[in-house]
Amino acid sequence: MSILVKKSARDPIVLHPEMHLPRWDSVLEEAEQAPTILIVDDIELNRRLLKAMLKTAAYRILEAARPSTAIGILEREKVDLVVVDLVMPEMSGPEFCHLLKSDRRTQLIPILMTTSVQGTENEVAGIESGADEFLIKPLQPAVARTRIRAMLRNKALVDSLEEAETILFALAQSVEHRDKYTGMHCQRLTTYSLALGQALGLPRQEQLALYRGSYLHDIGKIGIPDGILFKRGLLTDEEWQTMRLHTIRGEEICKPMKTLAPVLPIIRSHHERWDGSGYPDGLGGEEIPLLARILQVADIYDALITARPYKPAFSHQHAIEIMIEEARRGWRDPELVPLFAEVSQHSSDGETHSWAGTTSMQESLDNMRRELSK
Ligand SMILES: [Fe+2]
Repeated sequence: MSILVKKSARDPIVLHPEMHLPRWDSVLEEAEQAPTILIVDDIELNRRLLKAMLKTAAYRILEAARPSTAIGILEREKVDLVVVDLVMPEMSGPEFCHLLKSDRRTQLIPILMTTSVQGTENEVAGIESGADEFLIKPLQPAVARTRIRAMLRNKALVDSLEEAETILFALAQSVEHRDKYTGMHCQRLTTYSLALGQALGLPRQEQLALYRGSYLHDIGKIGIPDGILFKRGLLTDEEWQTMRLHTIRGEEICKPMKTLAPVLPIIRSHHERWDGSGYPDGLGGEEIPLLARILQVADIYDALITARPYKPAFSHQHAIEIMIEEARRGWRDPELVPLFAEVSQHSSDGETHSWAGTTSMQESLDNMRRELSK
């Protein structure tokens, strides 16, 4: 079969059987940047040897003879892999690793540590400091190349997962921004739900799920028409049915991402009620996942203390009274609501709210964000 080539606007399209068209996958491969490897070694010969070994693939190689130079490069460049020697001037390889792994900007870069110093204790020290792989010199070219290729493959996977999650979070934010009355709602939810989660002594993984759930719980609203989402009057039965679907749609959107598995119960069940009258499954009491109950308390509190088209912003005290009343009516978890009232502190001016351990809360949020990129 021949291929159509059009030379000018008037020319007919001509077929050239021998013409080579690039395949899509090779176009994509070329479009992607060659992975960048940073070699940190004070001995020039070592750097040269490793560079020669890596010539077989299209890598962009950067070099640093000192850790301080390497740190400067890492601040400027996007690096996909660091190869570092165990013994260096200024600081040791493990110290350098530790520095990289404790910085949010560099913690996801895989590190291959090399050394000519034999001994298991060096390998242990290297791995314990955060190095992902360890190789003894002289390096075997085939082994070094295979190891580096595998590490870069993992890095690419982590990058794409991070991108997918970032896209989901951006989608969730766009849902929030559709509603001008709920600006910063998700950020406030993280504060309230984490305060409650920490008061309950939840493990870090569950706190992380609360953090993610605060942003993603209403992502299913992306499919709800504005006419229903922002309707001022009462919703018809049919409209309510559509509205309620946001819990199930949200779960479906996030399900393909395995890292979001702990968040799915929050997304699905944050509108259940303690007495079983909620949706979508009519769960009751402790059948409702704890994290969903926590998020619900935070969500309701935020709705009460912020102004909406149909109500003014209530004071903290008034909001808590309403929530306690709702718990008495059987709608909310009767233990979580009083605990929430205790955790939140009302400042004396009656307008603003201070939260126990705000600084540690900020730290905790930073930690959560760090966890997110793992
Ligand atoms: Fe919701």
